[in-house]
Amino acid sequence: MTNPNVETWTRANAEYTDERAEQAWAADEITWGVWNVPEAEVHALPEVAGKDVVELGCGTAYVGAWLKKRGAARVVGVDPTPAQLVTARRCNEKFGLGLEFIEAFGEDVPLPDDSFDLAVSEYGASIWADPYKWIPEAARLLRPGGELVFLCNSPLAVICSPDEDLPATETLQRPQFGMFRFQWPDSGIEYHLPHGALLRLLRANGFEILDLIELQAPAEAVTHERYSYVSAEWAQQWPAEEIWRARLQHRSS
Ligand SMILES: C[S@@+](CC[C@H](N)C(=O)[O-])C[C@H]1O[C@@H](n2cnc3c(N)ncnc32)[C@H](O)[C@@H]1O
Repeated sequence: MTNPNVETWTRANAEYTDERAEQAWAADEITWGVWNVPEAEVHALPEVAGKDVVELGCGTAYVGAWLKKRGAARVVGVDPTPAQLVTARRCNEKFGLGLEFIEAFGEDVPLPDDSFDLAVSEYGASIWADPYKWIPEAARLLRPGGELVFLCNSPLAVICSPDEDLPATETLQRPQFGMFRFQWPDSGIEYHLPHGALLRLLRANGFEILDLIELQAPAEAVTHERYSYVSAEWAQQWPAEEIWRARLQHRSS
């Protein structure tokens, strides 16, 4: 039986991610999230020149491409959806950036311990993989002192969303206590933890938290045509997306 996330992302690749990939690979500026907040404003990433990078749930891998263009020594994109990797490989060929790709889930990555200086995820493993499995995997793959940077939805946006197709409201739609695994209608399985649980999970896996950057939609933002789960007006007032930055101090086991 096909995995529901692979099904969802095979469909998404045919509907929109494939056609947008080359433009994203070509972009000079690193930006974050629905509102394209510039990395130059938020400073979520460490210096990557000469570093080994793994992208967990790379999709079409434009984030990995941006990091390779900034001098990363090695970038490996990991994703379970073959169609997404076909697009990533095509772009890699076209842009000649020398990324490597592996078909795998973020919960179980066939790469050796201690092989990377940075693990990154932009709405990849960070929302589509079980955090109690992918965060230990990220810790295993990183060298001590390595960093984990990931973008996900804020718990507040999830709590205020009636369902995946309707925009976040200004009222609480579901409990925060117990939030973890979400299967929205017609979609794959997402994972969203409250801040306390995520913070404890990171610390239990040897990470110290360096930053939690709550992204704000800029004043001129308009509601995104595809990612309309949150309106621009909502995201100007409350954080809909957030970037976690953590450093591996030691291996927990
Ligand atoms: C929003 S896309 C990735 C984002 C990437 N930055 C992009 O836009 O191309 C989500 C990706 O997560 C992948 N994915 C789904 N389940 C996963 C899992 N369990 N572990 C890692 N990646 C997963 C999907 O195959 C998909 O390519």
